[in-house]
Amino acid sequence: MKKTKVVVIGVGAVGSTTAYTLLLRSRMDELVLIDANAGKAVGDALDMNHGMPFLGHTKVWAGTYEDCKDADIVIITAGAAQKPGEPRLNLLKRNVAIYESIVTEVLKYNDDGILLIATNPVDIMSYFCWKKSGWPTNRVIGSGTLLDSARFRYLIGEKLQLDPRSVHAHIIGEHGDSELPVWSLANVAGSSIALSEEEKSDIFIHTRDAAYEIIEAKGATYYAIALALDRIVTAILCNESAVLNVSTLVENYHGLSDVYMGVPCVVDRQGVREVLDIKVTEEEKALLHRSAGKLKDLIETISV
Ligand code: LAC
Repeated sequence: MKKTKVVVIGVGAVGSTTAYTLLLRSRMDELVLIDANAGKAVGDALDMNHGMPFLGHTKVWAGTYEDCKDADIVIITAGAAQKPGEPRLNLLKRNVAIYESIVTEVLKYNDDGILLIATNPVDIMSYFCWKKSGWPTNRVIGSGTLLDSARFRYLIGEKLQLDPRSVHAHIIGEHGDSELPVWSLANVAGSSIALSEEEKSDIFIHTRDAAYEIIEAKGATYYAIALALDRIVTAILCNESAVLNVSTLVENYHGLSDVYMGVPCVVDRQGVREVLDIKVTEEEKALLHRSAGKLKDLIETISV
C-alpha cells in the first residue's frame, strides 16, 4: 500500500511548528523537512525523531527536493515574514522571487500532489503557484481565511461564553487587511449572533488585526496557523469533504473571477472539490469585491 507522504518546505517558525503539529496527529507515514538552511531541517528532524517513542510510526527526515516525488501534499511556508506593523501584501515581491525557484524545483519531481501554500500574501502566492505549476486549481490551495475564521469564532465564543467549535462564522476574502466578516450567516445552533454593532465591530477588528498584535508581542505567529494547516491536511488525507475557508480560485463567484481568496470550500482527498456559493448581503458582497479588487491589482504586478 502506498505510504502517505507530506513535505514541508521552509522550517522556520511556521513550518517547524506545522511539521510538529502534523507529527502529533500521526496522519502520514512520511514527513520530509526541506529548508535552505539544511542544518535547521536536520536538527528539527533529529529532535522530532527522538520523540517517536511517545508518538508512533511517522518516518521523519531532512530531505531535498527529490523527496517531493510521490508526495501527497507539499506545504510551502518558506519566505519573508511580516515585520511589526508590516502589511502582508508588502512581502509580495520578495516571496515571489523565492517561490520562483521553490516551485520550479518541486515541479521537477512532483506533478500529481497537492500544493498547500502558507506564505504571505497567501492568496497571491497561491495564485502564483497555480499559474506557474499549471496544475488544476483544486490541487493548489492556500491557507486562506481559515485562520481568520478561527480567530473570529474564538472571539465570538469568548464574548458569548461558548465553545468556539459551536460558533459558526466566516471571514472571507483576502487573508489580510481587506478581509470581511459574514455576520449575516454567523450563528450558534442556527440562531444569529446577539451582539451589538459595537461589539461586532470590536470582535472583527481584533480578528483582522490579530497577527499585528501577536507579531508586536512575540515577533511572529505560528501556533494557530500550524493548526489551520494541519486541519487542511487532515481534510485531504482523511478525505473528509470538510467545509474550510481556504484560498482557491473563484470563477463567477458573486460576480468575481480569476482571483484566489478565502471562501468556504469543500476539501477532500482531491483538494478543493467545490466552492460553496454562500448567500451574502449586498454590503458583504461589496466588501468582497473591494477585497478581490485589491488582490487583483497586485496580481497584475507579478509576472508568472
Ligand atoms: C497570521 C499569518 C499566518 O495571520 O498571516 O497569523
